[in-house]
Amino acid sequence: MAYENIIYTVEEGIATITFNRPKALNALNADLLKELSAALDVIAADEDIRVLVLTGAGQKAFVAGADISELAAFNPLQAKLFGRQGQAALNKLQALAIPAIAAVNGYALGGGSEMALACDFIYASENAMFGLPEISLGIIPGFGGTQRLPRLVGINKAKEMIFTGKMVPAAEAAEIGLVNRVCAPEALMEEVSKTAKLIAAKGRVALRAAKQAINSGIHTDLTTGCGIELDAFALCMASEDAKEGTAAFLEKRKPVFKGRLSH
Ligand code: CAA
Repeated sequence: MAYENIIYTVEEGIATITFNRPKALNALNADLLKELSAALDVIAADEDIRVLVLTGAGQKAFVAGADISELAAFNPLQAKLFGRQGQAALNKLQALAIPAIAAVNGYALGGGSEMALACDFIYASENAMFGLPEISLGIIPGFGGTQRLPRLVGINKAKEMIFTGKMVPAAEAAEIGLVNRVCAPEALMEEVSKTAKLIAAKGRVALRAAKQAINSGIHTDLTTGCGIELDAFALCMASEDAKEGTAAFLEKRKPVFKGRLSH
């Protein structure tokens, strides 16, 4: 697929999707969501890609939300179809087997915050602003914001953000656990790249197992979650990576992971 609303690149096993509608502060329209979904399919099918990074084009925004010029004309049925399209793309992002990092380089509002929430964690520049301002448009979040935000920052903080629509600066977003790290704007992509490379060098089987155990277990009770972990832990022991990782430790050398299960 030819991309017009995103830029898709892959370097050293790290894929980057850059939302690329800077004139509209990278707002999410139906075409962009289609391209995002197609790119995620490409990533899911490529075993050499270890980590995904998402960011926004330009200096000002990660994503300023759903495209209000499209949204304004929707009837309820169209709104439902658009919401479903957005939720499907973000669910696909969350379900990717590889880790996804949001590099939030400015406004992450509405669908932009929801996009970042569907990633595994968020690094933000000092000038980044998070928020779910839909209430000020007379609507509510439609791409999972009422569900993912309370699960991450707690119900009361999420309610305050969603009921007021107020923006939360990066430093405060870090305090409430929405953001893992805040960087100077010019250092953001370098910091994200360092972490992405650190992750990409780990064993692929173990990375996938860890993500799956966390994502599948988090909404179950502790006993069920520990059962999920146990199966994933046992499966890791069938990988060449586990043999290599443990042997390298005992031989006092660096492991070279190939990401394969044993034959
Ligand atoms: N949709 C469409 N266009 C948008 C947009 C959006 N969400 N956000 C910004 N733009 C456009 C503006 O219309 C403007 O276009 P023109 O130059 O053609 O007029 C351009 O981007 C620059 O924006 P501003 O002039 O407004 O820039 P600013 O610096 O004054 O303000 C801002 C920046 C605070 C982010 C402001 O643009 C803003 O409040 N944007 C809307 C944020 C929002 O409400 N997002 C939620 C959308 S609904 C949603 O996301 C639902 C959901 O859950 C899926």
